[in-house]
Amino acid sequence: MAEELIVSNNLSKAEKYQELYPQIFALIQGEDDLIASLANMMSALKYSFDWLWVGVYFVKNSELVLGPFQGPIACTRIQLGRGVSGTSWHKKETIIVPNVDEFPDHIICNAASKSEIVIPVFDSNNEVALILDVDSDKLNDFDHIDEEYLSKIIRLISPLL
Ligand code: SME
Repeated sequence: MAEELIVSNNLSKAEKYQELYPQIFALIQGEDDLIASLANMMSALKYSFDWLWVGVYFVKNSELVLGPFQGPIACTRIQLGRGVSGTSWHKKETIIVPNVDEFPDHIICNAASKSEIVIPVFDSNNEVALILDVDSDKLNDFDHIDEEYLSKIIRLISPLL
């Protein structure tokens, strides 16, 4: 395993993801522990992009429970249908929020968060097993490019679910 990631400057966002993807693949390849793999994946994402917070919440019984993350401390539990993440779980779909102040019921874990993307990850029964939550301190920081590549990256852990 490489000791550090190589993320070049002056790349477009898509190019940056393309450079990062095989490195994250290599980072978790051969590791069968879900938490260990997610922990390294969250670090790789956080330190490759200038985001405020990158982490996962696991579906446990009737709520989301905080998992591996990088960034400021966050809400520990979120109910089904609450906030962006609980809504993504409930609707089983990715949600991009350009301005969190305009999302009804957005849960403020950190006041610096301005925009957000949440991506659900499904188990073999097509139930949501966890969600990936990425927050930025910039407005409108996420688009379909982030959705495409972050989905591809987080799905790397699907075999471990
Ligand atoms: N803002 C999220 C809560 C989780 S954090 O941002 C880490 C939400 O509304 O679901």
